[in-house]
Amino acid sequence: MVYGDNPDRLVSAARAEDESSFELKLRPRLLREFIGQSKAKLQLEIALAAARARGEALDHVLLHGPPGLGKTTLASILANELDVGFQQTSGPALQIQGDLTAILTNVRERQVLFLDEIHRLQPVLEEKLYTALEDYKLDIIIGQGPGARTHVMDIKPFTFVGATTRPGLLSSPLRSRFGILLRLEYYTDDELRFVVERSAEVLGVPIDADGAAEIAMRSRGTPRIANRLLRRVRDYAQVRGTGTIDRPTAMHALEMLEVDAHGFDELDRRLLLTIIEKYAGGPVGLNTLAASLSEEQDALEEIYEPFLIQIGFLDRTPRGRMATRLAYEHFGLVPPVKQAGLF
Ligand SMILES: Nc1ncnc2c1ncn2[C@@H]1O[C@H](COP(=O)(O)OP(=O)(O)OP(=O)(O)O)[C@@H](O)[C@H]1O
Ligand SMILES: [Mg+2]
Repeated sequence: MVYGDNPDRLVSAARAEDESSFELKLRPRLLREFIGQSKAKLQLEIALAAARARGEALDHVLLHGPPGLGKTTLASILANELDVGFQQTSGPALQIQGDLTAILTNVRERQVLFLDEIHRLQPVLEEKLYTALEDYKLDIIIGQGPGARTHVMDIKPFTFVGATTRPGLLSSPLRSRFGILLRLEYYTDDELRFVVERSAEVLGVPIDADGAAEIAMRSRGTPRIANRLLRRVRDYAQVRGTGTIDRPTAMHALEMLEVDAHGFDELDRRLLLTIIEKYAGGPVGLNTLAASLSEEQDALEEIYEPFLIQIGFLDRTPRGRMATRLAYEHFGLVPPVKQAGLF
């Protein structure tokens, strides 16, 4: 869950209740089924082969990048590839030392322990992790008060996989415990077309190449959104179309959902238009912008901004956010002179 994020929004990181099982069904199980991210995949292939050859636990892995790009998927793939157990928890779910101690003492040899939203782990728990990750040892305090003793306990060698959308919030001691740091990037339209075609096949939905391309183009570089759109377009094709998703069906359905050619949703448009109309194109501070939009600052920063910056519609400057010339042109507006120099 990401703060005040709304699961009904297409761009949202939060999942609607029935979405989890849907995502599970579409989740690739092996590295070769995982589309795109060639740099990350290559590093993992090599590390996996080396770990297998040595019969050792894989190095600890940190996965970072915007929501919905496949961090959780990759973590579970690592366990499948290594043919070991997979256990999942998250920073906010671990509240007391005992929770973490229980997990670590029960960890099985070479298994994958996945910790989502690692940037939200409490500092005392984070410190407890350090020795566990480095030496597979755990400090356990026995007794209370002046008679308390610290006992060092050995735990099984395991692979720790951390995921975060906010790598900047990680402390450097924690970051240094990871042997493999991977940043997931937004997907290209072609890669997303494969994601859509693969998902359609899994779901048994008839789709042609143009229909898949149309959905891919409007998915903000994000497989989770591509799958979400596919699901909605499938409904539309069944009820209003012939059942097969072709380009016209996809276009009509996406127009009805108010997903435009860039995959912008209502908040993307509102965000850009607020900067343009209310703040003369910026710069405007993130907190001011969030207040103007009545949205959570974190959701804007984690979910909306990275994509708008990536496609060159938004600029993050030391003095605040600015709408670029491309953003003006998108709305058929003429940028003021100060923006004309950007891009
Ligand atoms: N490379 C990929 N190939 C095919 N499908 C993918 C790929 N990456 C992600 N997906 C699909 O997208 C969905 C979302 O991916 P996932 O849950 O792994 O994202 P995440 O990065 O963990 O997101 P969050 O930050 O919100 O936790 C998955 O259900 C999976 O089906
Ligand atoms: Mg995840």
